[in-house]
Amino acid sequence: MTDKPSNDSDLRRRFGPTALITGASDGIGRAFAVQLAEHGFDLILVARRGEVLQDMALDLGTRFGVDVRVLAMDLTDPTSVPHLMSLTEGTLVGLVVAAAGFGSIGPFLDQDMASEINMVDLNCRSVVELSYGFGQRMKAEKHGGIVLFGSLVGFNGAPLSATYAATKGFVQSFAEGVAAEMRPHGVDVLSVAPGPVGTGFAARAGMQMGQSATPELVARSALAALGRQTTVRPGFLAKFLGWSLAVLPRAGRVRVMGIIMRGMIGKASVIPK
Ligand SMILES: NC(=O)c1ccc[n+]([C@@H]2O[C@H](COP(=O)([O-])OP(=O)(O)OC[C@H]3O[C@@H](n4cnc5c(N)ncnc54)[C@H](OP(=O)(O)O)[C@@H]3O)[C@@H](O)[C@H]2O)c1
Repeated sequence: MTDKPSNDSDLRRRFGPTALITGASDGIGRAFAVQLAEHGFDLILVARRGEVLQDMALDLGTRFGVDVRVLAMDLTDPTSVPHLMSLTEGTLVGLVVAAAGFGSIGPFLDQDMASEINMVDLNCRSVVELSYGFGQRMKAEKHGGIVLFGSLVGFNGAPLSATYAATKGFVQSFAEGVAAEMRPHGVDVLSVAPGPVGTGFAARAGMQMGQSATPELVARSALAALGRQTTVRPGFLAKFLGWSLAVLPRAGRVRVMGIIMRGMIGKASVIPK
């Protein structure tokens, strides 16, 4: 006995039958996996921790009667996306959620360079490659959806999180550009630009976050916005901070963002005087 809905949802009709989610083992990607399984999507789950994904596959497959496939891979590896594209050839992936990503905080010159480059590879390069590979297939099928992750910090520079904010600015700009190009082909592209979200992200980045949205709210808002708008700011805080910052000139926004990031820094000793 499964919880699979007897009728396909509208979302599955528009973007099904299969959704591929990167960063599916945790946080926002995991919330997408659960909600898309509830909508009856078959899933391809991508992240490094294969065992976590296998447990999810068993759970979601049993609860919702959907087919769940696991691809354990490190998306900072330049061979990973070409490999992923060949492994998914022949599967009708109508929705891609590129949630894998990470950030860092602290003065740029104090960061570990290899990690910063990995961040650019994961947050930007893998996103471009996935959008290209699946965008081509979706264009041929004349339907599809691609969900990318910007951030509240992606609309201008952010002192103390310079590389991360720049990767998110890249994704925001990329999403806006390809959304306009792909729309005539029946492919919807969405940039999700949350404020703080309560996942393991902040701890991994060395950040401290106060009030935050839930990953479930982020996934729900994104799925409701897909095909209706190009950017969604999920939750009150992302909207409120976004609107408040929007009235400032760009230089003012950078200054305020520096103050916000200083408040989020986990290790006080690395704050520049
Ligand atoms: N949380 C926030 O406050 C926030 C705010 C704005 C935007 N965002 C963006 O939202 C997206 C999701 O964030 P989140 O909060 O869900 O983060 P999270 O909880 O830290 O989850 C990150 C996911 O990415 C996967 N991942 C990390 N490195 C990877 C790699 N090299 N190859 C493949 N998968 C990798 C992780 O799985 P494995 O460890 O198993 O690989 C995990 O599933 C990110 O793009 C983030 O920048 C987050």
